[in-house]
Amino acid sequence: MFELVAEDLHAVMGEVRERTFALVAHLDDERLNATLNPIMSPLSWDLGHMAAYEDLWLNHRAGGRELLREDLAALYDAFETPRAVRGDLEFLRGEELLEYMSTVRERALETPVGDGVLHELVIRHELQHTETMLQAMVLAGIAPPALHGPVTVDGSGLEMIEVPEGPFVLGTGPEGFAYDNERPRHTADTARFTIGRTPVTNATWQAFVEAGGYENEALWSPAGWAWRTENDVTGHAGGPPNAPVVHVSHHEAEAFARAHDARLPTEAEWEKAAPELEGVGAVWEWTSSPFTGYPGFTPHPYREYSEVFFGDRYRVLRGGSYATHPRVASNQFRNWDLPERRQLFAGVRITR
Ligand code: AVJ
Ligand code: FE
Repeated sequence: MFELVAEDLHAVMGEVRERTFALVAHLDDERLNATLNPIMSPLSWDLGHMAAYEDLWLNHRAGGRELLREDLAALYDAFETPRAVRGDLEFLRGEELLEYMSTVRERALETPVGDGVLHELVIRHELQHTETMLQAMVLAGIAPPALHGPVTVDGSGLEMIEVPEGPFVLGTGPEGFAYDNERPRHTADTARFTIGRTPVTNATWQAFVEAGGYENEALWSPAGWAWRTENDVTGHAGGPPNAPVVHVSHHEAEAFARAHDARLPTEAEWEKAAPELEGVGAVWEWTSSPFTGYPGFTPHPYREYSEVFFGDRYRVLRGGSYATHPRVASNQFRNWDLPERRQLFAGVRITR
């Protein structure tokens, strides 16, 4: 049994790495090493960071070895080295980067898998970073040919389904792998509400643009209006009419909802309704909930994974997107980002 688990997770690590390299196969070193956008890391930094994370968790913490490159620890620590300054640093490039990644991997395959939790953490970490890399590539207009937008949905996003009042169980139970922020599992209550049967489509969004939604301050929160005005955001790029709108910020999602006498769902509402909904996993869905710990939260395996982001700055997104690997998407998974961010593969589903 143990052998089987080890082989499985090692095979998954190999497949995930192949996928990572396939996503950047169309880019040359100059592109990989460039700062594609000031809010994103150079793609090479993400690649080195994945390996450094694997070395830290599988080789150092689980395996009890020295870090392969102690000198790189700070450079690849997301907190010591924020995105804005990564482009100026001597992160590994080219052959040296590939060699680092493969040497870390050789050592990691010798670490006992144990209960598999740290291996799963490392696997999902790489998968999450590939989505971040895809965001950077889309911003720079160099998305890989294999990335296709969300599939179309049957509905405008304005048709609603009803969810009755009553308690339901939220979060992930104690068995198996889950992120710390999904635990502990607990009962939550919601009043009766309605929620969009599908995410809002591009056609519906364009109607909002044409009706003057971006010019009507009354629809926007004060922070949203300030963001819209400072950045001169006057509309949205659009896309296939029957596909979910994507790359909208939380500010825009809120204004869109208000224009339809609606609001964004809370996390609890979203998770309760998710099994009934169409189009879950097409685009991330902004919720109205700030990112905080569930009652009884305990950090695992480190405070910087979730806890340092708790508070009222970040908003939770749910579901997953066409750029998300299925292994990291579940109805319990909580993603988070700043309300002004537009690079996420995020859309909106409204609630009343
Ligand atoms: C869950 C996507 C918000 O990118 O900040 C990557 C995932 N954590 N490395 C992020 C993550 C550590 C995280 N998100
Ligand atoms: Fe990371």
